[in-house]
Formats: sequence, structure tokens, C-alpha cells
Amino acid sequence: MKKAVSLLLIGSLAALVGCSSSTGTSGSGGDQSGGGTASSNLTIGVAIYKFDDTFMTGVRNAIEDAAKDKVAVEIVDSQNSQPTQNDKVDLFITKQVNALAINPVDRTAAGVIIDKAKQANIPVVFFNREPLEEDMQKWDKVYYVGARAEESGTISGQLIVDYWKAHPEADKNKDGVLQYVMLKGEPGHQDAELRTKYSVQAIEDAGIKVEKVAEDTAMWDRVKGQEKMAAFLTSAGDKIEAVLANNDDMALGAIEALKAAGYFQDDKYMPVVGVDATAPALKALEEGTMLGTVLNDAKNQGQATLNIAHVLAQGQTPNKENTGYEIVDGKYVWIPYKKITKENMADAQ
Ligand code: GAL
Ligand code: CA
Repeated sequence: MKKAVSLLLIGSLAALVGCSSSTGTSGSGGDQSGGGTASSNLTIGVAIYKFDDTFMTGVRNAIEDAAKDKVAVEIVDSQNSQPTQNDKVDLFITKQVNALAINPVDRTAAGVIIDKAKQANIPVVFFNREPLEEDMQKWDKVYYVGARAEESGTISGQLIVDYWKAHPEADKNKDGVLQYVMLKGEPGHQDAELRTKYSVQAIEDAGIKVEKVAEDTAMWDRVKGQEKMAAFLTSAGDKIEAVLANNDDMALGAIEALKAAGYFQDDKYMPVVGVDATAPALKALEEGTMLGTVLNDAKNQGQATLNIAHVLAQGQTPNKENTGYEIVDGKYVWIPYKKITKENMADAQ
């Protein structure tokens, strides 16, 4: 009799344990969930450089989706201010979150964040804005999830090359040189500097001579992109034969300015390329106003960030098996870019 009761007790205990651990790890993305131990009481503190950024909104949503039924996330807006972000990080540390996922406002500020995190022994995953190499080496519980900026630059240059080669009339002044304007993202951001450099290099590597008519930063922003493009059109007007933008929002702004100047009607055309493959950019591809873009994979960047932070929060070391993503040099996850035109836009949806 006594034995039967204790067996019953063990049985119900086992059921209870089984039940609570399954709520910790079941749900979406279960195949890539880290570890398998119960993690319902873990929290990951996430700081985004600013919520008001189209691409980062996609990454933020992907982090939330990946966390669902797996681990609690607290996501805060750093409002494009590094001091604000530092305060938010301090708060996360005071609250003793189990891991941090940080999209720095200023990537050179990562070192300070790492020092604080290390002192509190809270692992940190940076994403989208790559910390300097020497900062990455400060501690072994520091990771970075991003994409190779050079690759996106090369692809956007190739989009222009493809167009130039297929359309001899693109050389409007018939001088054999491609006259372009460049809309840059935030100065100092690896994506702004390297996309600018490698897009032009890809065009030159294809044997096409280039002349920069104008270049200015529009800070990743659509309205600023429109203003800068309007200014380029006023000063250089018909000289411009192509528009390269470091992201889709600036490219879409440029398209607005071009429309206002009579482009995309009758025979007046301008090749415009961006990066990100956001929903409004895909719409512009469909309408024929944007020539091409480069898929910046928000879904996988968000999911990799969350999975790594989750594994670290459980006190484990991230690897391909427990995160679903290959870790390069013990610290980096690189999500590939992809060339997107009207023809393959379904790949970006
Ligand atoms: C880039 C993206 C931009 C902007 C920026 C923010 O990767 O292409 O649109 O979101 O990140 O850091
Ligand atoms: Ca020309």
C-alpha cells in the first residue's frame, strides 16, 4: 500500500516536471530552441538603436517571434541616443536579466557595454551594428550577429552593372562613363561605409568607368533621401544616370523626388537601387520604380540573435546544434544577403 502511494506520488511529480519544462521550450522554432532545459523564468534584455527604423522594426519583430513560448524578452527603444541606451543597459543589469541583446546606437560604444556586462557576468549579443574587433575580444561571452556589409555593396553594384549592360541608352550623355549619385547611411556605420565602397568597386570591376556626380548622407531616412535627391536634381539634373542608396528607405525617398521631377513617366527613367528588401521596396520593384534591392534578412538576423542570447542565458556555449546557426571564429554569425529584382521578389516576401 505504502509503495503504491509513493509510486503515485512519483508519477504525478514526473507529470508536473514534464509539464513545466514543455512550456519552457515548446512552440515556434522548437527545432532551433537552445538546450531543452526549462527556461520560463529567464529574461533577455533587448535594446534597439531606435524603433523608428524600417529594417530594425523587422528585426525587432523577428526577435519577438523567435522568443514566443521560449523565453521572456524585454525590448526597449534607445531613441538614437547612446546615453539613453547606456541607461537602459544599466537598468537591465540592475534587474539581473540573464542575457543582453544590443543593437548599439554608436558601435564604438560597445566596449563600455561589454565592460559592464562582464562585471555583472551577463553575456551579450550585439547585432546589426558591428563592434570594433578589439572590443569583441574583451570577453568570451560576447557575440555578434550581422551580415557582411561588403557583400550587400557588391550586389547593389552588380544590379547597376546588369542594367547598364542591357540598356545602352542608360548612358544618357553617350560618354561611356556612368554618372551616379550616392545616398549614404549613417557615417561610420559599417553598412554605410562598405556598401558605398563596394557598390562602386563592383561597377568598376565590371569594366565600367564611373563618375561620382554627388554623394551625401541621408541617415537611412526616407524623408532625408527625398530631400537630398531633390537637391542633386536641382544641381546636377540631367547629368545623373544612376542612383545608389545604402538602404531602401533612402532609395524610396529618391524615387519620390524623381517622380516629382517627371521620372517614371513616358520614357523618363532612372535606375535606383537600395538594400534591405522591405515591403515598400518590394512594392516599388513591382511598380517598376525601383530597379533592384538586396535582401537583408531581418528574420534570420532576429532569430539568430534570440537563439544565441537564449543559449547564453541558460549558461551554455552557443554552437550550430543549439542555435541553428554556424558560429564563425567563436563569436560571429553571418547571415547571407541576396540579390532581389522583380523576377525573384517572392524570395524576399
Ligand atoms: C542596416 C539597414 C538600414 C538600417 C541600419 C540600422 O543594415 O540596411 O536600413 O536599418 O541597418 O543600423
Ligand atoms: Ca554617361
